Amino acid sequence: MSEDHDLCGPLSGLPLLEDLPPLEGRRVLVRVDFNVPLEPGREGSPPRIEDDFRIRAALPTLEWLSARGAAVTACTHLGRPKGKPDPRYDIEPVRARLAELAPNVSLLQNLRLDAGEEANDPAFVDRLVDGFDAYVNDAFASAHRVHASIVGPPYRMPSAAGRLLQREVEMVGSLLHSPPRPFVALVGGSKVADKLGVLRALLQRVDRLLIGGGMAFTFLEAQGHQVGRSIVDRDDLQSCQELLAVAADQITLPSDLVVLAPGGTVGVGDAGNGALAIVGTDVPEGWSGVDIGPETRRSFVELLGGAKTVFWNGPVGAFEDPRFAGGTEAVAQAIASGTAFSVVGGGDTTAAIDALGLADGVTFVSTGGGACLDFLEHGDLPGLRALRAAPNAPEHGRVAA
Ligand code: 3PG
Repeated sequence: MSEDHDLCGPLSGLPLLEDLPPLEGRRVLVRVDFNVPLEPGREGSPPRIEDDFRIRAALPTLEWLSARGAAVTACTHLGRPKGKPDPRYDIEPVRARLAELAPNVSLLQNLRLDAGEEANDPAFVDRLVDGFDAYVNDAFASAHRVHASIVGPPYRMPSAAGRLLQREVEMVGSLLHSPPRPFVALVGGSKVADKLGVLRALLQRVDRLLIGGGMAFTFLEAQGHQVGRSIVDRDDLQSCQELLAVAADQITLPSDLVVLAPGGTVGVGDAGNGALAIVGTDVPEGWSGVDIGPETRRSFVELLGGAKTVFWNGPVGAFEDPRFAGGTEAVAQAIASGTAFSVVGGGDTTAAIDALGLADGVTFVSTGGGACLDFLEHGDLPGLRALRAAPNAPEHGRVAA
């Protein structure tokens, strides 16, 4: 953790758009994160974009640059094509949507079709920036990746954080800098392994950490409860035990559960089947835990309602199946109707809050999933460190507005 450090202010030392040289007639490369969910095309037709939130989120930066006379070229990754040409990850559907939203901005082919991107190959960076006069990173959701297009260009040319990256750093960063208390974090989702680091970091900062979703079962088993056939990361039992030993008074686990009978299935829409029951913290043999129960919902809602700062990442149940969406819906409603400064991050979480029509009630919906968690864990990200090394970066740091 030697590279980790807490910034004096979230934007300290970061070059912003205003720090770029005059842009009239200049060519600007903008790294965006247009890694949008795609629905596979039927019968040979191209894939369709399910949600263009990330494309719309980058428009203020693209428009700002165009309005100053720059010729703007955007670049992004799309999916995980593993460094080789793959028609499933062709950028065309994204390019077509961008052409509707920002007709004067061009978009390069998916960066990850070239192995140089993920390998952070200097030769790939050279090819990428060739012919450009300045670089802008507006890809907060990828700023945790040490990839060529994220960490390479700022060492070669005047660079800046775009408006979206700036806002993400301000909003998510403000959770790291004296957030109003009580500060309550709610973390769900299925895999505890992916979130242990951020859980440890959050426990240093929050007054209370609520744990739901599939990952709660590893904690419940670590406490000696029966978990039936629920998801458990056995390799992480000891880490969960350790966290519970040092932070028992900060951690709130479910006190009751919705469980699905043996042979039952979780399905999208009405595709799931099987009997349900509500139990305490022990799941009967052969059953699986699929949502938090009514008593847990009440206690989570009360704790979230009393908070002045809230961070939420990860659904608390298998919400894609409407039978198990009740817990996620209850916490989403509590956050959206509360008065706390609230930040929500992660693809599933933002999809849930959007599907419920509650995004307007949240102070800030982050475009980042892993990036948001890494930023909270480490207080910094590789993409931000690179921007601070740019030739035009403010020397003595910038005080957050
Ligand atoms: C995301 O969707 O979280 C970002 O686009 C990063 O994608 P990655 O996890 O494939 O690097």
